[in-house]
Amino acid sequence: MFKIALFVGSVRRDRHGIKVAHWMEKILKDLGHEVFFIDPMELGLPLLDRMYKEMQEPEEKLRNLREKIKEADGYMPISPEYNHSTSSALKNTLDYFLEEYFFKPSAIVSYSVGSFGGINAAQHLRQIFAELGAPSISSSFQIPKVQEVFDTDGKLIDPQYEKRVKRFLDEFDWYLEAFKNQREKGTPY
Ligand SMILES: Cc1cc2nc3c(=O)[nH]c(=O)nc-3n(C[C@H](O)[C@H](O)[C@H](O)COP(=O)(O)O)c2cc1C
Repeated sequence: MFKIALFVGSVRRDRHGIKVAHWMEKILKDLGHEVFFIDPMELGLPLLDRMYKEMQEPEEKLRNLREKIKEADGYMPISPEYNHSTSSALKNTLDYFLEEYFFKPSAIVSYSVGSFGGINAAQHLRQIFAELGAPSISSSFQIPKVQEVFDTDGKLIDPQYEKRVKRFLDEFDWYLEAFKNQREKGTPY
């Protein structure tokens, strides 16, 4: 129904986040959305030197990434919490672009192995996505003790998440539609 760019936040070799990302990808696809799965580990982008718009001849993987970000109706970062913020890998990937995000909503997902589900990372991401022109929806989705929510194969163990995620995604859907309707009428800049 909508095109959603989903950003994996962790590039650690033993990352828990990939389980969250694949779980969310499947739910979004089952709901009929098109998902652009953006994994900084696969992309391997260098620490930012030039932004995309400053590059003379951007390489193919960056051109493809830009297309996905530009085409998306909304964004979903799946973020770990490192020292009370998001990961440098996610921030570095986001920073390559700017105008491509404008006037699209974002829905922030965070997780951690502790009890707070990466809420500090989520709060920082609200500021980051506001600056990118893709304001976050009112709710964010936290997964505390992520190691107890999925098994080692990435299968959901804790069934309460099915219900919780539905409410979150219903809200995102509302914003996706509202922003799309407004974009079709034009944008202020
Ligand atoms: C550098 C670093 C900093 C961390 N800082 C926090 C933190 O501030 N709060 C927290 O709840 N967990 C913290 N953790 C633990 C993470 O929640 C845990 O490692 C989690 O699995 C990270 O996600 P990932 O496996 O997808 O990389 C930190 C982990 C690392 C590697």
